[in-house]
Amino acid sequence: MNSVKKPSGQKTYFIQTFGCQMNEHDSEKMAGMLEEKGYLPSEERETADVIVVNTCSVRENADNRFFGQLGVIKKIKERHPENVIAVCGCMMQQEHITQRIRQKYSWVDIMFGTMSIQEFPRLLEECLATRKKLMSVYQSQEKVIEGLPVHRKYSYKSYVDIMNGCNNFCTYCIVPYTRGRERSRMPESIVEEIRGLAADGVKEITLLGQNVNSYGNESDFDCDFAGLIYRINEIEGIERIRFMTSHPKDLSDRLIQAFVDCEKLCRHIHLPVQSGSTEILRRMNRRYTKEDYLQLVEKIRASVPDIAITTDIIVGFPGETEEDFEETMDLVRRVRYDSAFTFLYSVRTGTPAAEYGDQVPEDIKHVRFERLVDALNEITAQKNALYQDRVEKVLVEGVSKSDGSTCSGRTDTFKLVNFSCGEEKIGQIVDVRITEAKTFSLFGELV
Ligand code: SAH
Ligand code: SF4
Ligand code: F3S
Repeated sequence: MNSVKKPSGQKTYFIQTFGCQMNEHDSEKMAGMLEEKGYLPSEERETADVIVVNTCSVRENADNRFFGQLGVIKKIKERHPENVIAVCGCMMQQEHITQRIRQKYSWVDIMFGTMSIQEFPRLLEECLATRKKLMSVYQSQEKVIEGLPVHRKYSYKSYVDIMNGCNNFCTYCIVPYTRGRERSRMPESIVEEIRGLAADGVKEITLLGQNVNSYGNESDFDCDFAGLIYRINEIEGIERIRFMTSHPKDLSDRLIQAFVDCEKLCRHIHLPVQSGSTEILRRMNRRYTKEDYLQLVEKIRASVPDIAITTDIIVGFPGETEEDFEETMDLVRRVRYDSAFTFLYSVRTGTPAAEYGDQVPEDIKHVRFERLVDALNEITAQKNALYQDRVEKVLVEGVSKSDGSTCSGRTDTFKLVNFSCGEEKIGQIVDVRITEAKTFSLFGELV
């Protein structure tokens, strides 16, 4: 196959990202660093001089998809041996993975981990000069690296990481091993970054951390997560503040009060529950009971009645009995989530739960999963139906149809809305009357 020609001399890059918002934001930083070196984004992977794959390891299928992609990239590398192939992200923090790449995919040029992305430009330069295979993986990092250039995907909304890492060690989860211990950025640097974004026209920011509720816990500065929200709420130009993700055990009364006091803080909270069984929660090391969680939801709703609550649930954690699963079904019916992500438990090498003897058979996991998804979808549809005929503020995010006349965006409560609208409104907050409510999205018209 012939390669597609690109403008002579212009170096290009292509980044493929798996995983969560943290990884997406890391990819924006890698793009920023590449652009600082004179590279331009390529529309096509085939013709890019540098191909980067930013990996996720949270479930087994994420690992499998990556190795599937490597098979495809191998063919590209055979056609263009001069191109640089770099792999990075959470999978690279695990020795059994980097070993496997070295042995079976020895044509990969650069491997680096989540705590060494700042080294990418140096690694690239060295690789181009010496054509050596290079690797940089650290198992710890003292501070979040500040000031990396960022190529932002959108002009009107932006991710801002406020902390990295996780100290919680839920027994199923690989993240504490791939992202290291919690490190919080100084509130001043965060506020300064957001001021800069506002000056560039950004209206909505999403604060990122594996558990934003423990922001500042390990630091010597005197600012907790709620305090940070109050400070950001003052920044002129910013109209919406969102955050991901909140661990129920650390959610403070001060944060609930911030929802009441800070008009920019969107009325949506993603509050992963994982299971409705207190015994399973104990074995997951979540450090709350079913009752604690239900009380917390009640407390949040007492202060912020129209808040949207979403969650993550794992089905088939080792030892989950039919009774445990019924507890999850009961919790779901009582909380009535706006929406939920559901996952089949996936064994992660190196985590405590991988060693638990009582793994749930796949067929049982699947039956439970289907039942749970049916129940959740029914509730989501009922929750969305409440939006019928309401007028909602929507941040217009993009054109969703090729005719250029249907846009989509999100309500304050994170509901996806489709409506007739020209693309000149992208980036603006508009009023939309909801004319139809479906399970996974709302439809409306501009008011
Ligand atoms: N820090 C976030 C979650 C990051 S991982 C938090 O604690 O809220 C995102 C979700 O993936 C988790 O909430 C969990 O539901 C799911 N997950 C993590 N490890 C998993 C595993 N081994 N099997 C299945 N789902 C898993
Ligand atoms: Fe994983 Fe638990 Fe940390 Fe979330 S809080 S990243 S689920 S260990
Ligand atoms: Fe995946 Fe790493 Fe995020 S494992 S979910 S990309 S923190």
